[in-house]
Amino acid sequence: MKASHLILTLAAVLPFAACTKETEKSEAKREVAKEDVSSNVRIAVVYFSWSPEGNTRFAAETIAKKVGADLFEILPEKPYSIDFRACCDEAKDECKEKLERPIKPIEGLDLKKYDLVFIGTPNWWGTLAPPARTFTEKNLEALKGKKVCLFLTHGSGGMQNLGKDFAELVGDKATVLPPKAFTGATIRENVQALEEFATERINTK
Ligand SMILES: Cc1cc2nc3c(=O)[nH]c(=O)nc-3n(C[C@H](O)[C@H](O)[C@H](O)COP(=O)(O)O)c2cc1C
Repeated sequence: MKASHLILTLAAVLPFAACTKETEKSEAKREVAKEDVSSNVRIAVVYFSWSPEGNTRFAAETIAKKVGADLFEILPEKPYSIDFRACCDEAKDECKEKLERPIKPIEGLDLKKYDLVFIGTPNWWGTLAPPARTFTEKNLEALKGKKVCLFLTHGSGGMQNLGKDFAELVGDKATVLPPKAFTGATIRENVQALEEFATERINTK
């Protein structure tokens, strides 16, 4: 090859080579950033919420936003009464006797896609609200081998039996991460605590 041809060829090729190097560098940077926030973990947040305030919904939305999770709502086939006392009466036996409350299919939810599933519920009669219990029960096979993490909102009773009942329900099907209870009435003042809970749990081995 003549010297003039070689110079022309190099002049044409070198800018592309440099460009490829830059792309590689920025890809690498993106990977590091991903590792920092553990965003390589695929996460779903699935919740039930009943009250008009939507305390558990707020907690679920905050967690999902913080960790970039997909968000899904559990709905009972037959809604509970919108009256507090009537709802308490309706739910009492279901909670005490751990009865199933049929739930609607959740559109777009494919649990196979996730490594970690947060499950949110209000504290009802000291245990999981029946739709959240039913969801967990129905999906035990699909949750097999994954990490699951319960969060809840409550009136003033705190965790009561929820952590224990959830762990019993899941058994050894999935890895149960430490659950956390949040006061319902002040949930909107506790965004930082919700975010810390979410990031701590996604980094739990
Ligand atoms: C049927 C029913 C039972 C409840 N039982 C309890 C309870 O045993 N202990 C408690 O601390 N709060 C109890 N609560 C209060 C809720 O846990 C609390 O208000 C929660 O934040 C509501 O969440 P939500 O807005 O997502 O429905 C109960 C509420 C209802 C409707």
